[in-house]
Amino acid sequence: MSKVTACETLPQAPAFSYRDAELWCEDVPLRRLGEAVGTPAYVYSHASLAANFHAFSKPFAAIPHLICFAVKANGNLAILRLLGNEGAGADIVSGGELFRAVRAGIEPRRIVFSGVGKTHAELRAALEADILMLNIESGQELQALQAAAAEVGRSAPIALRVNPDVDPQTHPYIATGLKKSKFGLAPEAALQLYAEATRLPNISVIGIHIHIGSQITSVGPFCEAVAKELELVRRLRESGIDLHYLDIGGGLGIQYADEAPPRPEEFAQALAPLLSDTNCTLIVEPGRAIVGNAGVLLTRVLYEKETAAKHFYIVDAAMNDLLRPSIYGAYHDILPAQRRQRGDIVADVVGPICESGDFLARDRHLGRLDQGELLAVLSAGAYGFSMSSNYNARPRVVEVLVKGDEFHVIRERETYADLVAGECIPPFLERP
Ligand code: LLP
Repeated sequence: MSKVTACETLPQAPAFSYRDAELWCEDVPLRRLGEAVGTPAYVYSHASLAANFHAFSKPFAAIPHLICFAVKANGNLAILRLLGNEGAGADIVSGGELFRAVRAGIEPRRIVFSGVGKTHAELRAALEADILMLNIESGQELQALQAAAAEVGRSAPIALRVNPDVDPQTHPYIATGLKKSKFGLAPEAALQLYAEATRLPNISVIGIHIHIGSQITSVGPFCEAVAKELELVRRLRESGIDLHYLDIGGGLGIQYADEAPPRPEEFAQALAPLLSDTNCTLIVEPGRAIVGNAGVLLTRVLYEKETAAKHFYIVDAAMNDLLRPSIYGAYHDILPAQRRQRGDIVADVVGPICESGDFLARDRHLGRLDQGELLAVLSAGAYGFSMSSNYNARPRVVEVLVKGDEFHVIRERETYADLVAGECIPPFLERP
């Protein structure tokens, strides 16, 4: 008789489940992964990435659309290749992200380039790669693009990024569509710049762009912002400027704790009535909603330490590996790879870095954890590795992609030699 396995899928991360008492990613036990690749390690699920992409793409099937994955959320080549294979384009914000997207095989005609400070070299590179659209954020940037396009003898396809002044009700650091933020152009300023743009010889006006923020957990702000964007499309058409691409940005939130963000289907359903007869191709730029809950950060308990005030578990991952708790006070669930009775201990989970801001979790009911125990920090697939650094001379960690019962290292753990690559001691410091 085969053994019955109790399987309990994590509600926020369906590719991760407890089978009996062990935590798995797809058909691989995390314990096995931890032993094979060491810790800390980022682990991503292929099935989850593909499913999340289609959850976005399918509900928009009835209208011409392009889902441009926000590379900043996770730029690993294998992840970009996977999403590209499923039909994704890319939303990029730098020459480096352009390089990554193209290297991963994403078609340039499916790439849009956002950001307030694109350099001359970046503008040229985007034109030379022949990407779909550059989202322009100021008059000076438009002039710089005109100059770059004239230099390379091309016409630059543009959208203007409009700041709709909508409150996305999210962390202030990641709200981007408020009047006071550095992003985009106020509607009236945009209308004026559109008129100027049509007179520039190497500029071709094709679209309009908004992006109001990130980790947005209700549809209201999206609807409000898109309505304002469409009002501008209407006014532009009245003045004889026709647009072909309506870029509504990214920003849909995910469940980290007890939030209940709309699912991509609900997001699409709420927007569909607004989008049905725009005569534009819709562009959506999700990042977090595709990759956030498809990844975890594996870490091991190094030491337990009790002070008069607190109980600490010191783990081998730190703020340089996952910055979100430190800079946004973000909540990431932490689960043991092996479930058992643990009692009730409330503890902070902290890293080895020499700052009190180096924590992954505070005041959590984790119970007793043993030295060497493997933990999974959940919802770490977006803005995890991509925001990691070498602070405290810590090599950046290994990344692994799981597919079924297979797994593959998609970025090797950095070595100490990698830490000093590119550094040199000048001749005047040579020792005799
Ligand atoms: N498009 C543009 C122009 C963006 O600036 C962003 C994110 C996105 C799309 C994707 O947004 P998403 O769908 O991932 O929310 N480091 C922060 C998030 C910063 C987001 C910046 N812009 C975090 O860890 O929460």
